[in-house]
Amino acid sequence: MSVAQAPVPLLEVIDLSRTFGSGANMVRAVDHVSFTVQPGEIVAIVGESGSGKTTLGRLLLRLLDPTSGQIRLHGRDVTTLRGHNELKGYWQKVQAVFQDPFAAFNQFYTVGHVLGKALNVLDKPPSRAERLQRTEAALREVGLDPADVMNKWPHQLSGGQVQRVMIARALIVGPELLIADESTSMCDASLRVTVLNLLLDLRKNHNMSILFITHDLGQAYYVSDRVLVMYRGQLVEQGPVEHVLLHPQHDYTKRLMSDVPLLRGREGITAEPN
Ligand SMILES: Nc1ncnc2c1ncn2[C@@H]1O[C@H](COP(=O)(O)OP(=O)(O)OP(=O)(O)O)[C@@H](O)[C@H]1O
Ligand SMILES: [Mg+2]
Repeated sequence: MSVAQAPVPLLEVIDLSRTFGSGANMVRAVDHVSFTVQPGEIVAIVGESGSGKTTLGRLLLRLLDPTSGQIRLHGRDVTTLRGHNELKGYWQKVQAVFQDPFAAFNQFYTVGHVLGKALNVLDKPPSRAERLQRTEAALREVGLDPADVMNKWPHQLSGGQVQRVMIARALIVGPELLIADESTSMCDASLRVTVLNLLLDLRKNHNMSILFITHDLGQAYYVSDRVLVMYRGQLVEQGPVEHVLLHPQHDYTKRLMSDVPLLRGREGITAEPN
């Protein structure tokens, strides 16, 4: 008799923990967290400030070592990988966009240079022509005109353009998972919707999975399929977005929801900044 096997998830996080400090001052920033992300899935991680969202994102990017637990990509343990050489294959598949695009954008580099450098995680350095071709394609993908922005410095761009460049920088290597940590919090309301729609397009066009970290439940509702709720480092609730946000079970999620002004429909939602 054959037993149907569940597909291997893209990302599997198993009992992952990270503490900072020791003794009475020890902070359990991420505390025995387990979840999976399937290909093409958008998963939101929500929780109040200090709940461990960014620490979890940094662990998943392997910018920070876990205290215990495991991260698997396509079933392969990546927790033991160390250093740029071992990790660059992982970074071809897992990329990130952060909150403050100006801080992430080296002010001494032009847009073209920043995007070209991002290709350094590829196994074989691309030719000059390929670098240029991929840079232009990534810029077009995020709605920028390569001829206009390619040779500009960050201070010559608007905040929205810089955020798009940062998304292009993540895309250029063709990742399977994008970790977006509060990547719309510096945006005004209309730009925020533009960026959220851009993320939805990436999923649609490339079947990219996205881990969308936010403290804004309206945005989580707008983009995600599933929601994970973090509270003091722990995952206290997870499930399909409609269940978790419209019918929260955990007291903490109920409290979080009571702070949200009003969740409008998925179309045209512009969650108020809080
Ligand atoms: N490098 C560090 N050293 C010591 N403590 C840290 C470090 N990084 C994070 N922490 C602590 O871990 C906890 C979780 O922080 P984290 O930044 O992950 O929260 P967050 O959910 O992303 O918050 P926010 O919504 O404000 O971005 C906090 O108590 C924070 O002070
Ligand atoms: Mg954070």
